Amino acid sequence: MDAALLTAAAITPAVAERLARLLVRVYPAEKTVGEMTAHILTYLGTLANFRAAVIENDDEVLAVAAGVTRLIRHGATGDTEKIIALFAVATHPQFRGRGYGAAVVKAQFARAGHDAPSALWQTAVPVFYEKIGAVRVRNRFVNSRNLSAPDANPFWEPAVMVYPPAAWRDHDEVIDLLGVGY
Ligand SMILES: CC(C)(COP(=O)(O)OP(=O)(O)OC[C@H]1O[C@@H](n2cnc3c(N)ncnc32)[C@H](O)[C@@H]1OP(=O)(O)O)[C@@H](O)C(=O)NCCC(=O)NCCS
Repeated sequence: MDAALLTAAAITPAVAERLARLLVRVYPAEKTVGEMTAHILTYLGTLANFRAAVIENDDEVLAVAAGVTRLIRHGATGDTEKIIALFAVATHPQFRGRGYGAAVVKAQFARAGHDAPSALWQTAVPVFYEKIGAVRVRNRFVNSRNLSAPDANPFWEPAVMVYPPAAWRDHDEVIDLLGVGY
């Protein structure tokens, strides 16, 4: 099944609530549905090039992968580069194993080479992404904007991945996320 790629303008309060229901179901500790709906609607306006890849039925969002563009800084050269930051990847528990997760992520991967050269994200499930062509990278990540701990890793999941592999040439560099992990 193909995923739809929604812009921020397409995220009406009703769509935000359906997204919130899925995200709260998959990540239950974080927020209530009402809080998550409000967060999505407030947060969207602050994000660059936001897109939500979704698969929906008449009532629910069954799978989502969100992506925005952000800048990173390469340690060796000091150059900044735009990347697609992937986050909020989730499939409804009753609809897993049908290819929906892969479809929404592939819709974000299709932005690579257009909106930014590559996508970069953290994950606890690298094998899921490896099956659709992503690779794990071993760079050290920092956030120079974290003034109290500028050398600390801003990511918290065990793996950091990129897509497409050929666009990632900086295997040994320190990468500055220039902001919080996502
Ligand atoms: C990870 C997740 C999005 C996968 O969604 P899904 O719709 O079930 O995935 P798909 O059906 O598209 O699976 C595609 C392939 O990945 C594999 N896969 C799915 N989840 C996997 C996992 N956790 N670990 C390893 N492989 C996985 C599937 O077996 C399938 O393999 P196949 O092509 O050989 O049959 C879903 O399990 C989920 O929402 N998990 C909880 C939240 C989460 O971990 N999100 C990712 C955070 S970065």
